[in-house]
Amino acid sequence: MTTQFPNFFLIDHPLIKRDMTVLRDYSTPPEIFREAVKRISHILAVEISKDLNTAEFEIETPLEKTIGFKIIDEVVLVPVLRAGLGMVTGFLEIITDAKVGHIGLQRDETTLKPVEYYYKTPKNINTAKVILVDPMLATGGSATEALNYLKKRGAKNLMFACLVAAPEGIKKLNAHHPEVKIIGAALDRELNNKGYILPGLGDAGDRTFGTL
Ligand code: PRP
Ligand code: URA
Repeated sequence: MTTQFPNFFLIDHPLIKRDMTVLRDYSTPPEIFREAVKRISHILAVEISKDLNTAEFEIETPLEKTIGFKIIDEVVLVPVLRAGLGMVTGFLEIITDAKVGHIGLQRDETTLKPVEYYYKTPKNINTAKVILVDPMLATGGSATEALNYLKKRGAKNLMFACLVAAPEGIKKLNAHHPEVKIIGAALDRELNNKGYILPGLGDAGDRTFGTL
């Protein structure tokens, strides 16, 4: 679904609405939180993979020859550590042959600026469709920086998938990477003065891994 932001596409689905409620509820324990993240990731992955290209080839059913299809695009998923890891399994269960890179970024809680601590991506990063995944788009600092790193290493075909986006982060990403499409499961109101999304779901990394 299109929104007031030309680069942001909201996936409007009853199952996402139900599972986003599970994520937002402060009393949801990590094991239930992770399952809800995985289910939403399935739906996002299905939506995103609608644009993948296919090629025909001949196969034989038990009865006769017919035409089959294979996906010809290479896909690289890049979770932003840590919280992005929670979305990887859900994406891989749908886009089964995607390769996975990793970018380690942590927000400095005083400056709110992201600091890189790890980078490793597959060799085909410059020809593949690259999907950066991170549950939270808050100030947009982490996603902007992650996309900068990916472009520096040669990635050209990029998109970003998140669970919850704040208007501030969408605007920042649009200003720095206007060609990158953002797919999100929720568009929230605003950030608080600590850079947390309101109403949001809290700290996605802590809630995924139980480090609260
Ligand atoms: C969270 C989240 C994003 C970032 C979003 O990570 O997973 O990476 O904050 O905020 P931003 O848009 O303002 O940059 P965090 O830095 O808390 O690290 P973690 O995943 O290790 O918990
Ligand atoms: N990172 C999170 O995990 N949650 C927020 O609300 C903002 C940044």
